[in-house]
Amino acid sequence: MAHRPYIVGNWKMNGSRALLAEARAIDRAAQRHRGVQVALAPPFPYLGLLRDEVSAIGVGGQDCHAVAKGAHTGDVSAPMLDDIGADFVIVGHSERRRDHGETDAIVHAKAEAALAANLGVIVCVGETLDQRDAGHAQAVIEAQVDASLPRGHGAAEAAAAGKLSVAYEPIWAIGTGRVAAVDDVVAMHAAIGARLIAMYGDAGGKMRILYGGSVNADNAAALLGAPGVGGALVGGASLTADAFLPIVVAAEPDEG
Ligand code: PGA
Repeated sequence: MAHRPYIVGNWKMNGSRALLAEARAIDRAAQRHRGVQVALAPPFPYLGLLRDEVSAIGVGGQDCHAVAKGAHTGDVSAPMLDDIGADFVIVGHSERRRDHGETDAIVHAKAEAALAANLGVIVCVGETLDQRDAGHAQAVIEAQVDASLPRGHGAAEAAAAGKLSVAYEPIWAIGTGRVAAVDDVVAMHAAIGARLIAMYGDAGGKMRILYGGSVNADNAAALLGAPGVGGALVGGASLTADAFLPIVVAAEPDEG
């Protein structure tokens, strides 16, 4: 059976206790859209608070360390996220790769750690504008998928259970208002899907591949209705219920 569309809000380094009211409103609305899997990834300090205030939506971290504990000041481990009640974690976001020098190997290790802690995982990949303009986008993304996705710790089982997803986020489309053309998204999702089948067999073919990059109420229906698009990873438009909920509605199989 196909997994439900997956709409994930990534608050990045935004938010406050006051913004938890938006999360509560999103949670209430999500109860009316059970055909869509909805989740939010707030900054770490708000994760436990958010967990206690919502019931219909998933709650996740924006990153985790590759090891379970130890001398890594400022880091948070996958078992800690699991302990606080998180459902999933995002790894390999381009802002982590850029700000913290995360390589595919590091992202891979984090994804393995997350699965070992029984968390759902969203692995992000994306090309730069230079790479796209040079005609290398597909090769770059295929290489990122091959090197970043988990292979051990029941990865294929996690894929089959809908606990492992990929987010395709062209870097030039993130926070820029410049959304990728639907045809390009379809082509890239098809290329990613082929790699996932090669890695995980049939389960890979069922994995949700999310699109991310300037998704909003106006473009969500076209993107989410495109072949191979299993959901969206939403940054700026996930910070308020008013901006986020139309994207959830657009993902509803009957309404999108
Ligand atoms: P954006 O961010 O929706 O603000 O472009 C998406 C993301 O980086 O996950």
